[in-house]
Amino acid sequence: MKRQILICGASRGLGLGLVRAFLDADWQVHAVVRELRPASPLEALRSQRANDLQVITCDLNRRDAWCTLAAALQDRRLDCALFNAGVYGPSHQDPRQAESEDIGQLFLANAVAPIRLAQQLAEHVVDGGVMAFMSSQMASLQLALAADMPLYGASKAALNSLLRSWQMQLPQLPWSLLALHPGWVRTDMGGDAAPLSVEQSASALHQVITGQLGRRECAFLDYQGQPLPW
Ligand SMILES: NC(=O)c1ccc[n+]([C@@H]2O[C@H](COP(=O)([O-])OP(=O)(O)OC[C@H]3O[C@@H](n4cnc5c(N)ncnc54)[C@H](OP(=O)(O)O)[C@@H]3O)[C@@H](O)[C@H]2O)c1
Repeated sequence: MKRQILICGASRGLGLGLVRAFLDADWQVHAVVRELRPASPLEALRSQRANDLQVITCDLNRRDAWCTLAAALQDRRLDCALFNAGVYGPSHQDPRQAESEDIGQLFLANAVAPIRLAQQLAEHVVDGGVMAFMSSQMASLQLALAADMPLYGASKAALNSLLRSWQMQLPQLPWSLLALHPGWVRTDMGGDAAPLSVEQSASALHQVITGQLGRRECAFLDYQGQPLPW
């Protein structure tokens, strides 16, 4: 039986790169997108790899998103659930200018929605599997790198905080619980100046994630598997 992964936020950028990386490694992939755009790269991939790629359409911010995903997964058991979807928030990144609704959307998309969904889907993940979240080194309070993007950094710090709280609520970790930093990557969010291609980051993240199978640890790791301070 092929290993199975759920990848949330797979329409473009890193999420799409991760779909390719796991398909190339012969995994069965369940890719979640807000909408499957006609003639998109994911649509083409689905035609080529119909047996190995299921596309699920769902807005991950919805409170009932887990019902859509659970129905699509049926009784399949996941070796990994990867919560990659994220947004940057207002381009000015200034708390004084930000509208309440924008702040709410940012913290919902980057912190609350992924953790909530993971908690609701936890029973689908096998013992010894991996539950991973796309965080950022901007989340690290100790590194304090987020001066140029304080709202985005705070939303990823909130994600890491919720992840650690969840870890503390679990008497024992049935799977690895990971906050991941993908490096600075050339995507719509990362921009053209970023040093890493999507393929480089996704292939390295694939190694980090598969290396965590069976380990049952909670960690904040970069794309090369190096620990980052919380
Ligand atoms: N690029 C970097 O250098 C970098 C560095 C550190 C961390 N990260 C993190 O890595 C992750 C991926 O980043 P990226 O650079 O690939 O970003 P991106 O190019 O902007 O792509 C973001 C992805 O998230 C999806 N998404 C957002 N909100 C969603 C929702 N409510 N429901 C479903 N899908 C949703 C988008 O779908 P749509 O196409 O529907 O909008 C898109 O597929 C993010 O969490 C980001 O914060 C990126």
